[in-house]
Amino acid sequence: MKSIPVVLLGCGGVGTQLLQHIVSCRSLHAKQGLVLRVVGVCDSKSLILVSDVFTKDLDDSLLLEICRLKNSSSSLATLTSFGECKVFTNLELKRKVLDIAALLGKSIGLTFVDCTASSETVGVLCRVVELGCCVVLANKKPLTSDMDDYEKLVLHPRHIRHESTVGAGLPVITSINRLLASGDTIARIIGSLSGTLGYVMSEVEDGKPFSEVVKAAKGLGYTEPDPRDDLSGMDVARKALILARLLGWRINMDNIKVESLYPQEMGPNTMSLDDFMASGLPSLDKDIEEKTKVASINGNVLRYVCMIEGSSCLVGIKELPKDSPLGRLRGSDNVVEIYSRCYSELPLVIQGAGAGNDTTAAGVLADILDFQDLFP
Ligand SMILES: NC(=O)c1ccc[n+]([C@@H]2O[C@H](COP(=O)([O-])OP(=O)(O)OC[C@H]3O[C@@H](n4cnc5c(N)ncnc54)[C@H](OP(=O)(O)O)[C@@H]3O)[C@@H](O)[C@H]2O)c1
Ligand SMILES: *[C@@H]1O[C@H](CO)[C@@H](O)[C@H](O)[C@H]1NC(C)=O
Repeated sequence: MKSIPVVLLGCGGVGTQLLQHIVSCRSLHAKQGLVLRVVGVCDSKSLILVSDVFTKDLDDSLLLEICRLKNSSSSLATLTSFGECKVFTNLELKRKVLDIAALLGKSIGLTFVDCTASSETVGVLCRVVELGCCVVLANKKPLTSDMDDYEKLVLHPRHIRHESTVGAGLPVITSINRLLASGDTIARIIGSLSGTLGYVMSEVEDGKPFSEVVKAAKGLGYTEPDPRDDLSGMDVARKALILARLLGWRINMDNIKVESLYPQEMGPNTMSLDDFMASGLPSLDKDIEEKTKVASINGNVLRYVCMIEGSSCLVGIKELPKDSPLGRLRGSDNVVEIYSRCYSELPLVIQGAGAGNDTTAAGVLADILDFQDLFP
């Protein structure tokens, strides 16, 4: 049996779903001669760790108990009595994580999985890479901080996977990596990488007022609690930066032109959420309606996309042919069109659900399994 020891950072929607996938795939993995040994799990406040990382792991009943606990929004610290495991509080957490990375990294190997939404994990992750560990990320933030951190993270390309950072479980990163590895040259990537904005733009195309569509989307739970978190385009910009860096571009967030769907004076620092929903949003309707009409006369539709081409990386509303994969997009699917030497006339197209705990966690699990040949 090959054994992959795993430490999970963050057990919210995606992290707990990952633990459930690991448990329910036990017999499948066993058939492949593989066992995933979860040796540590942490949330923002505490770390649960086995007493001996070489021989013990958190058993399945404990993993499922962790899921139950986290899904009811409790803290891991409330897990007090469970035999051979220890809880460490925040202050000791970082040191403890680095201790086991040093212990296992270069001996039997260890995989760190970042399912937090935090920008604070990047320091630890850079260190564990240095210590010989593997890293899987669903969290985009470590990959979108400065270029120095990025280079430390990708120092050993075989030791890092982050498929779920763009398009959740969709094979976007894998496809790009395969093209690059085979010497194909990528000329252009254009993608609708926000399920929320994809939904909004296709509803607007049907003639509904922008403000009504955003309000409905918020009501359906499609948006962040403050829809401006989606409308700002920053999440799409992070994904764009990850793709551009994958292509070898040494750029930072401030090299990306990001078009926000609301003006600065309606931002969270100057306008309350209630005011934004009641009066800010409706004042944006006319402009978008006019742009939609102009696009329609040109045989085009509006999409909120990231576009990486030549030497520019931008994020915003673009007019696209109605009869293109992105133009035909309806609802909340993500779509990525990749134009390369091999796919020059018609692009390589990847489409499907680009969010959701389940698909995201499945992408993370597949990333972990990708490392199996690195483990004894
Ligand atoms: N959900 C999706 O559809 C989707 C798709 C693609 C990518 N992602 C990415 O996947 C990541 C996880 O998403 P999610 O929806 O599961 O988020 P979430 O529900 O907010 O869970 C985040 C978890 O991380 C923990 N955490 C926060 N800061 C931490 C720190 N400094 N150290 C250790 N743990 C920390 C939180 O602890 P507490 O429980 O103590 O708060 C929580 O358990 C995010 O980066 C997200 O952008 C999500
Ligand atoms: C993801 O998981 C979180 C926490 O369990 C839950 O609140 C949320 O509704 C889930 N999201 C989806 C789309 O299932």
